[in-house]
Amino acid sequence: MLNEILKRPVIPVIVIDDANDAEPLAEALLKGGMDVIEVTCRTAAAPEALARIKKAFPEMLLGAGTVVTSDQAKMCIDTGVSFGLAPGLNPDTVEFFQENNTLFIPGVMTPSEIEAGLAMGLNMLKFFPAGAAGGVNMLKNLGAPYAPLGVRFCPTGGLNLDNMNDYLALPVVSAIGGSWLATKQQIAEKQWNVITAQVKEALAKAAEVSA
Ligand code: 3PG
Repeated sequence: MLNEILKRPVIPVIVIDDANDAEPLAEALLKGGMDVIEVTCRTAAAPEALARIKKAFPEMLLGAGTVVTSDQAKMCIDTGVSFGLAPGLNPDTVEFFQENNTLFIPGVMTPSEIEAGLAMGLNMLKFFPAGAAGGVNMLKNLGAPYAPLGVRFCPTGGLNLDNMNDYLALPVVSAIGGSWLATKQQIAEKQWNVITAQVKEALAKAAEVSA
């Protein structure tokens, strides 16, 4: 699964209030060429939204974000998500996902947290909240000592079309995530064409880095 994630440079971070929007949202992303999604466990609709996307679009890499409680972790495994993420590093959650052979990407923002992750056998970590924690320069310096060990980061928090490539250009960054690709309001207003266009725009932009 890690290899699959590494092939996708941009991950949309979704906050969904109505599970009925799950399928049209996933369709809008797929139309834009995006076959990965992070549905955050921040709303009551998240478990049903995850289950509906899993059923309707099994080809999608289905991620659950903001997995912070043991109940949410259990829900993720029961739903059969492809991967999970969290803002912080909770050893219990890491262990639970590992026991269930499911990729988990915990959040870090200090060297000690990176080393705690490494000690648990993790080398893909989320840098969160990227912008507020010091942005591209912080991540460049924070990640440098761990790059030889193969540690890679997915920064989220404060990313947008204008700064995404500054992060993607760092060798330690393998993917970036953001909610601007499909905002809570755009989802609530069912602006599917707008979301498709934003996704296309971001993927075209990301391609400039690898070009
Ligand atoms: C996350 O959960 O990864 C972040 O909240 C996304 O941050 P953003 O809303 O600034 O993109």
